[in-house]
Amino acid sequence: MIIPIKPWLDLANGKAGLAGYRGAFAAGDGLILSADWGRVADTGSPAGRIQLPVGNIERMDFYHEPILAEEILEAMRPVEGKQIFDGTLGGGGHSELLLRHSAHVIGCDQDQEAIDHATRRLAAFGDAFLPVRGNFRDIDQLLAGLGIAQVDGILLDLGVSSRQLDDPTRGFSFREDGPLDMRMDVRTSFSARDLVNTWGEEEMIRIFREYGEERHAARVAREIMKARTVKEISTTLGLAELVARVIPKTSGKHPATRVFQAIRIAVNGELEALETALEKSVDLLAPGGVLAILTFHSLEDRIVKRFMHRRSSPYIDRPEWSEPRRNPDFAFHLPTRKAIGPDEAETKRNSRSLSAKLRVAVRA
Ligand SMILES: C[S@@+](CC[C@H](N)C(=O)[O-])C[C@H]1O[C@@H](n2cnc3c(N)ncnc32)[C@H](O)[C@@H]1O
Repeated sequence: MIIPIKPWLDLANGKAGLAGYRGAFAAGDGLILSADWGRVADTGSPAGRIQLPVGNIERMDFYHEPILAEEILEAMRPVEGKQIFDGTLGGGGHSELLLRHSAHVIGCDQDQEAIDHATRRLAAFGDAFLPVRGNFRDIDQLLAGLGIAQVDGILLDLGVSSRQLDDPTRGFSFREDGPLDMRMDVRTSFSARDLVNTWGEEEMIRIFREYGEERHAARVAREIMKARTVKEISTTLGLAELVARVIPKTSGKHPATRVFQAIRIAVNGELEALETALEKSVDLLAPGGVLAILTFHSLEDRIVKRFMHRRSSPYIDRPEWSEPRRNPDFAFHLPTRKAIGPDEAETKRNSRSLSAKLRVAVRA
């Protein structure tokens, strides 16, 4: 059996791997018959095939490639060996790195599948890893339930994992057909299907504009209102095709990308959860504790940037004041005011990292 692969090599940092298939295949008794390497001219990265004996191939779980992993490790270094709350456990990639650097990790996710996967993956770390199912907006209650008053680090890697996105039964993506769902926590009762079939036109226009930054919000909402009087909109492809009918196709992204993003954010209350967790982090981080937030679109990044800037100015000034006054909200120092992005090697091997921005703050 010949498996086509797309390996990546990062010679500068001495790293290598298989893009998209990192750890995805294992030869039962390690018999790799031949490797055949060549160069893909346009990307400059090597391409190849690995031949594996049939019957010895076990498909292992590819879940999610941790983004800005080195940078997150660097940011968390001051609290190495201490207790870190990973609010977005996902496949457990970031948690594993932190555990390898002797941290104790409380891994939280609202998706039971993520908890189960990461618990299996991180079993070797024993008591140093503590999984907890919940929403990170309830971080105070989750920690209190574990008898923990404060932690030394909080990490949030926002949005959905590759696993959630790629699984058509979860209804996040329009690449394959599936039920229109998009709930990260399937215990909640409100899905994307409920949203598009019950919300009013004005409410939909607002979220398509605010959460999707969609210029054609009104046209899409009108089309949804029209379509649902004939038949309930219940599948991802059904919605994607409807959106594609009214949004002119431009090069690049699928016309439904922004509408899907908006619905996902609304269904999961993503921005409210982020705002709540950021405010709660002030009391839950021990002095010197690190807050590291990884965002993937401008709405999230704006919230994090504003929070960190407001909370990191020791003094505030207003024209009507004779002199600057102490900022009652001051709580953090910023190691750098700028967001940290991926390097070229990472964007080449993982396109999901393209829009990633990491912001870091240290509790004063
Ligand atoms: C981008 S993935 C995290 C990937 C992870 N850092 C890794 O390296 O594998 C985001 C995960 O966070 C979870 N999530 C998103 N928002 C959440 C919230 N408000 N509370 C709890 N979990 C959340 C999702 O279910 C998903 O599993």
